[in-house]
Amino acid sequence: MAMTLRCDRAPAWAQLQAAFETAGRQFDVRHAFVDDAGRFERFSQEAPHVFADLSKNLIDARTQELLFTLARECGLEAHRDAMFAGEHINTTEDRAVLHTLLRAPADAPTGPKTANELREVHATLDAMLAYAEKVRSDHTITDVVNIGIGGSDLGPQMAVLALAEFAAPGKRFHFVSNVDGHELASVLRDLAPEHTLFLVASKTFTTAETMANALSARRWYEQSGGTDIAGHFAALTTNVEAARQFGIDTTFGFWDWVGGRYSLWSAIGLPIALAIGADGFRRLLAGAHAMDGHFRSAPLEQNLPVRLGLLDVWYRNFHGFTSRGIAPYHSALKRLPAYLQQLEMESNGKQVDAEGAALSIGTSPVLWGEPGTNGQHAYFQMLHQGTDVIPLEFVAVRDAAHDLDGHHPKLLANALAQAQALMVGKLDAGGHKNFPGNRPSTFFVFDKLTPESLGAFLALYEHRVFTSGALWGINSFDQWGVELGKVLAKDIEPRLASGDIMGLDASTAGLLKRLGTRA
Ligand code: F6P
Repeated sequence: MAMTLRCDRAPAWAQLQAAFETAGRQFDVRHAFVDDAGRFERFSQEAPHVFADLSKNLIDARTQELLFTLARECGLEAHRDAMFAGEHINTTEDRAVLHTLLRAPADAPTGPKTANELREVHATLDAMLAYAEKVRSDHTITDVVNIGIGGSDLGPQMAVLALAEFAAPGKRFHFVSNVDGHELASVLRDLAPEHTLFLVASKTFTTAETMANALSARRWYEQSGGTDIAGHFAALTTNVEAARQFGIDTTFGFWDWVGGRYSLWSAIGLPIALAIGADGFRRLLAGAHAMDGHFRSAPLEQNLPVRLGLLDVWYRNFHGFTSRGIAPYHSALKRLPAYLQQLEMESNGKQVDAEGAALSIGTSPVLWGEPGTNGQHAYFQMLHQGTDVIPLEFVAVRDAAHDLDGHHPKLLANALAQAQALMVGKLDAGGHKNFPGNRPSTFFVFDKLTPESLGAFLALYEHRVFTSGALWGINSFDQWGVELGKVLAKDIEPRLASGDIMGLDASTAGLLKRLGTRA
């Protein structure tokens, strides 16, 4: 199987370090535009359903060349091909990584490790979409409650909101993820059991929060007079047996080669299909598949996810930026930052390489964000005048999905103006009113927010995260870092009632005493 060479061990690494010292550290993007009339064209990229302007970033042509060389030296293309071929690139769990297969058409070419899988994918997809259509035409079901967390929540929740314009009226969608009972209780308050469909979404069907919420939902359903569990509960899981033991017979499966944060394309996407229908869901898959084709076949120099992933390496490891913001200028993309946060930080928040050796370079930045223009009246102050440089990503949509006069030009003008202000700055006002400028940003444009453009954008991000993870030589597809807290919570829970603080550190013991339920 193709393994990557860690980027800090590749020959081009030292050349990049030298380039950073001679030109990178002092790079001023304003001068770069003066020197190069073709910079916008050179540093922008058309990809399926998404256009990206990278020209306001702190990068020159020579650095970009070196980054492409670095990617080739690291074996990025072979690693990418290994993923698509179904090699077990998730080495710590000994699993293939085949979420891209979930959006491949039924007649897509396959290899020996993906042919059966593709058949199973389409059998499940057809069954799930048929079920979605049945529920859509059942007008007694007015409320759909998705119970799941992490990848079993963020993707469907984000996409149902993003594609609300395409949703048929008549159904409300609720997402319950937190073990905090306030969340489930406030959803249940307004529901009637005969009008409600619960989807228990959990890859493993063991996640503590989801099991607690599913049990409480079932108890509520039965106590409210519901008797038809089969008609009002469905499970979306790789662990169909556990779902059956729980008492749910309507199940839609998926496979261990789908990571939780990459699972919205699988049965986990059922809420999306319920909202936008089978055709809409297939359009979402088609958009992602188009981006997969781009990632697989475009030369690195015109490959948008690769260009973004390499820029991420440049910023993290040479400029030392530890954070990146994302500001969607479309209110329907409100949950996009949260979704991307899991995608990137759970994938690339690693401190050892694929062999388990400690890394001496930084990996995932902190990813965060809020929609514009709201962010302009909150965190943008720091982006413009704070002491840290934080690359920002704008997402703008050319055509609005409403006809309220004047709003959309105002929105787009704000996005353009903010990106412009970050770059050009203002140095003649003195002191508190000066803006340093030269603050980097990337600007993404969709013609319209559709299932295709959303699908393409999410796949773009997946492949970008793949690219930086591959160069860092890490396994982007495990998540051992979430385990320790789960184990400790199991130990602490009974102590809250018993007051037993034996063996705890003084801080945890002190807090337990404050929070414990004992008299
Ligand atoms: O806590 C991390 C995690 O394992 C995520 O990777 C996953 O998306 C989430 O929990 C939910 O897991 P499951 O779908 O198995 O309930």
